[in-house]
Amino acid sequence: MRATAKAHTNIALIKYWGKRDEQLILPMNNSLSVTLDGFFTETTVHFRDDLETDSFTLNGEEVSGVPFERVTKFLDLFRDYTGKTDLFAKVESINHVPTAAGFASSASGFAALAAAAAKALDLNLSEKELSIFTRQGSGSACRSVYGGFVEWEKGEREDGSDSYAVQIAPQDHWDIRVAAVILTAKEKDVPSRAGMKLTVDTSVFYDGWLKSIDQDLRDIKAGILAKDFEKVGSIAEANCLKMHATTLGAAPPFTYWQDTTLGVMHEVWQLRKDRIPAYFTIDAGPNVKVLYLPEDEEKILARLRSVKGVEDIIVSKVGAGISYK
Ligand code: DP6
Repeated sequence: MRATAKAHTNIALIKYWGKRDEQLILPMNNSLSVTLDGFFTETTVHFRDDLETDSFTLNGEEVSGVPFERVTKFLDLFRDYTGKTDLFAKVESINHVPTAAGFASSASGFAALAAAAAKALDLNLSEKELSIFTRQGSGSACRSVYGGFVEWEKGEREDGSDSYAVQIAPQDHWDIRVAAVILTAKEKDVPSRAGMKLTVDTSVFYDGWLKSIDQDLRDIKAGILAKDFEKVGSIAEANCLKMHATTLGAAPPFTYWQDTTLGVMHEVWQLRKDRIPAYFTIDAGPNVKVLYLPEDEEKILARLRSVKGVEDIIVSKVGAGISYK
């Protein structure tokens, strides 16, 4: 009853921003991401009859408090599913995501945890079923079940049985690159969970956000299939700007951007004025991810490195889905 799984993180090109059910983690809108090969988590789950509680280590250190509660609550889903309500596990995770740089590791973390738990219990889940489990740990994680380009279908049902991710195009479909630009951060972020709730509850711009999603999704999927970089990049960047605009319309208003974030955004706009195709996207934090094509890598990295406040840049290719050891 022991298994090890590896999952990569992903970056949304069409953002998941807002829940219709907090408990089951059901989203207000479909989202679409690309899985990244540069960031991943490897997790071993060992269910043992002699344990009286779960335990969780991350990079060799015992985890307690809220992060531990999230893991043990997540394992409850598997205990309920199998009816083995007094079976506990030893969970060991290694994060190959620079957490010091403030990168969310919950996507790769919950995808690897779900996959390892399901395998340890010999559940033989389909990818769809695994995605449904994973979603309940962290929404964006359900997209990390697959490699390549992935859409999370929000679903309609109240029980969440039709809210899961599907692959739009495989890892080898298209070689685009994502530079994760790590900035010197001054303030602590509003966690994505709290930020999206405040936005849904109070933002005067939230309806406008929701109304724009269908068109963005239709266009970006066509762009991905046609490998039209300008189309995909411009839709992703505009979608990110719309998501971040909703936070400015919240009460109280807030933003994830810092002066250094704006510095990178302006550099990307300048790159395009100089006819070098690059587009950005930003999650619930100050760091910026820049999308570009392999042939422009050298020029783009040099320009990004010159921006004030850039601490580090980590380059990813399109990544793979879940794998097992
Ligand atoms: C801005 O998946 O971290 O990165 O479901 O509450 O765990 P929970 O939220 P999470 O939110 C991700 C928000 C985002 C956009 C995205 O990845 O689609």
